[in-house]
Amino acid sequence: MFVRNNWYVAAWSSEVVWGKLLARRILDTPIVFFRDQNNAAAALHDQCCHRGLPLSMGRVEAGTVRCGYHGMKYDRNGSCIEIPGQANIPKKACVKSWPLVEQHGLVWIWCGDAAPACSPPDYPWHGDWLWKGGLFHYEAPQELINDNLLDLSHLGYVHVQTIGGDPNTHMNAEMRTTRGDGSVTVERFMRSVTPRRLTCV
Ligand code: FES
Repeated sequence: MFVRNNWYVAAWSSEVVWGKLLARRILDTPIVFFRDQNNAAAALHDQCCHRGLPLSMGRVEAGTVRCGYHGMKYDRNGSCIEIPGQANIPKKACVKSWPLVEQHGLVWIWCGDAAPACSPPDYPWHGDWLWKGGLFHYEAPQELINDNLLDLSHLGYVHVQTIGGDPNTHMNAEMRTTRGDGSVTVERFMRSVTPRRLTCV
């Protein structure tokens, strides 16, 4: 079961490219991302309301999405705005869309049914770093990834080559845990520690 009423990172901003479609499965839902005519990121259910073809198999036309099967065209809100061969567009000709917020190099998606109840977490460091992100595919339940990221006692052994320090420094690092409304924030301070390389002996 997923917690739906929350913000999730859906993509790096750099992955949502003008004129291209990005297919991604978020909370077990197929979603297609693209940029609208204002270059703002948009997210639609990746399934055409006509015969169900993934919209990600279609194409972008001036900030809208054209289905690759019979050519129905959707705007960023998921409304069908063109059906080739007919003037009448039924109201139910639409697909679901989701609210997005793009900030600090990240595209956040709100997967809840109700309107967003809060803003995505502020994370300005991603806007400043030279490192512009990457993508990992895990063959593991998502709960284990969250568990791994909240349990940092492994850093002194797994990541000592890059994050630096030593096991003792990591174990005794100053930590601060803050509970929010539906969130938990863990901050960990290791001051004056330089990254180092392991020497194989
Ligand atoms: S399946 Fe998309 S227009 Fe027919």
